[in-house]
Amino acid sequence: MATYHQIPDDEKGYELDLFCVPKHYEEDLDRVIIPHGLIMDRTERLARDIVRDMGGHHIVALCVLKGGYKFFSDLLDYIKALNQNCDKSVPLTVDFIRLKSYCNDQSTNSVKVIGGDELSTLTGKNVLIVEDIVETGRTMETLLSLLSECNPKMVKVVSLLVKRTPRSSGYRPDYMGFEVPDWFLVGYALDYNEYFRDLGHICILNEKAKVKYKV
Ligand code: IMP
Ligand code: MG
Repeated sequence: MATYHQIPDDEKGYELDLFCVPKHYEEDLDRVIIPHGLIMDRTERLARDIVRDMGGHHIVALCVLKGGYKFFSDLLDYIKALNQNCDKSVPLTVDFIRLKSYCNDQSTNSVKVIGGDELSTLTGKNVLIVEDIVETGRTMETLLSLLSECNPKMVKVVSLLVKRTPRSSGYRPDYMGFEVPDWFLVGYALDYNEYFRDLGHICILNEKAKVKYKV
């Protein structure tokens, strides 16, 4: 069973003024929920847990684009640091897949693969899927089922966030950073119609911004 930090439903987070946020988003955000430093500290520990469990095997880290790119990059930096400083090390290679399931702040029923490397190259490999957030679980279940057709040797999933929501299929990743309330979150590469990926902290979007950036 994965261990994680649970952010409660009555979490107030932090006032925006306490941290640095880009000027162009100041009017769009309510509160900072997970400051960048805390994301990094939790990611460092996830890297240690993954190396403990998968160390000794060659890992193919599969980044789920676009939302997973920041977490992927920082997680791999921490795994690299462990590789450089420990007796046990894991050879790492990287792969990318691009999936799309969201429009505005709603998950759609269809999960589409819209780009990336051929999954067939993962046959016989130990794959670590790196995702930003699991909500209904549909994206991950779709990807896991596509991947199983290619017969990888082992598949593990790490997601920075998992949403506590009645819409969940019950799917849980092998490793997770934080369990979050049923809020729409942006920042640290999580987007709302492509905006807010260029924000360092994970924040709550206000209602005005949902209208402003609606498509
Ligand atoms: P699922 O298929 O419902 O589990 O949704 C997973 C995907 O939806 C994630 O990979 C994200 O790209 C996106 N998503 C879900 N919740 C949020 C959110 O709060 N903010 C931004 N993107 C989200
Ligand atoms: Mg994603």
